[in-house]
Amino acid sequence: MDGLMAAALAARANALAPFSGFRVGAAVEDDNGRIHTGCNIENASFGLTICAERVAVFKALSEGSRAFRRLAVAADSDRLTPPCGACRQILWEFCGNIEVVLVNLTGNTESHRMSDLLPEPFDASLLR
Ligand code: THU
Repeated sequence: MDGLMAAALAARANALAPFSGFRVGAAVEDDNGRIHTGCNIENASFGLTICAERVAVFKALSEGSRAFRRLAVAADSDRLTPPCGACRQILWEFCGNIEVVLVNLTGNTESHRMSDLLPEPFDASLLR
């Protein structure tokens, strides 16, 4: 278990998930080696819930980070939890083809590339 996965697991402790009970933590490492964390934040509207991955990336962007190396996602699931579709779009746009590491509470891990998680992506290169 490396520091990025440990940070994602620790961030999970702050999850606000009273409706689903499904707590998620995420941690993204920027190109300076700085780690930014996030957790899922649910609310009574349900639809305005934001996932741990987007919280981590938006926090990092708002702190001025613009390039990223890796992202870790931590959840309590036997089948490891990958980013949802909305998060994949945001990760592709702001982080590019980074490595996405999934981890659960028993320490099982899996690694994926964003290009595998989001094949044939829509992005700004098409807006020409
Ligand atoms: N969730 C995340 O935070 N990240 C994922 O990768 C999958 C889903 C959250 C959203 C919601 O609060 C809860 O998990 C159940 O979908």
